[in-house]
Amino acid sequence: MPDTRVPRPRRFLVCEPRHFTVRYAINPWMHPDVRVDVDLAREQWQALISAYRAHGHAVDAVDPVPGLPDMVFAANSAVVVGGRVFGSLFHAPERRPESDHYDSWFRGAGYAVHRPGSVSEGEGDLVWTGRYLLAGHGFRTTREAHREAQEFFGHPVISLTLVDPYFYHLDTALFVLDDGGATGRGNNIVYYPEAFSAGSREVLRRLYPGAVEATRDDALAWGLNSVSDGRHVFIAPQAEALAVRLTARGYVPVPVDLSEFHKAGGGIKCCTQEIR
Ligand code: ARG
Repeated sequence: MPDTRVPRPRRFLVCEPRHFTVRYAINPWMHPDVRVDVDLAREQWQALISAYRAHGHAVDAVDPVPGLPDMVFAANSAVVVGGRVFGSLFHAPERRPESDHYDSWFRGAGYAVHRPGSVSEGEGDLVWTGRYLLAGHGFRTTREAHREAQEFFGHPVISLTLVDPYFYHLDTALFVLDDGGATGRGNNIVYYPEAFSAGSREVLRRLYPGAVEATRDDALAWGLNSVSDGRHVFIAPQAEALAVRLTARGYVPVPVDLSEFHKAGGGIKCCTQEIR
């Protein structure tokens, strides 16, 4: 284990939770009868942005749109690798209009956007590891979209089957701890094995024999929905046990509480898209 893990500055795209609430239920975490403290949600989100900036990361923001309460979950609207933008097509009709707003932002920033032909929820299910894309299916993003992403990026896409409705997006069950830098050699992940089919679990074990395997408690505490810059791991404070294990491996946990967003089935990574 290196004594000093080296952070790499990132560029993140986010969306302020001005219109955030829980009004419909499209995953098991969402209960429209449970009240969201919108002021607290805004404070929590601001704390996340401050933490990113304090650690040297650039943050861009898309304007939130009234009537699109889940638009705060920026990760779902695209996956960007090498300046190429693979946009989104949401599973839920309630979220479909979000794609146009994100696309306009990308076009304004000088990027062309490829719109997928079948359901694809951005970095929620398509996770760039530094070497290839890990891709979840079972609840949202389709296998057809995995194939399309592979053709689009020209990077290998490894399809993984998600089996637990609580972990309906790949980014609720797995995150990239280290992209391994220029060579990709130190690439490593954290994941919750039981969220995957037996075969997919085996694939992850073969690809990442040195991975951190998380528990169901870590996953339920939103610990797998973290963002790592290679040194700092922005992580839910509820996932304390996982943070202790990451510390032992030389990473520095930065706790950020997004409890109000957990009520919508989202956490730190869901609120954060990376522009690479
Ligand atoms: N309510 C949103 C949905 O169900 C939450 C999305 C969370 N985002 C994520 N990347 N997992 O679509």
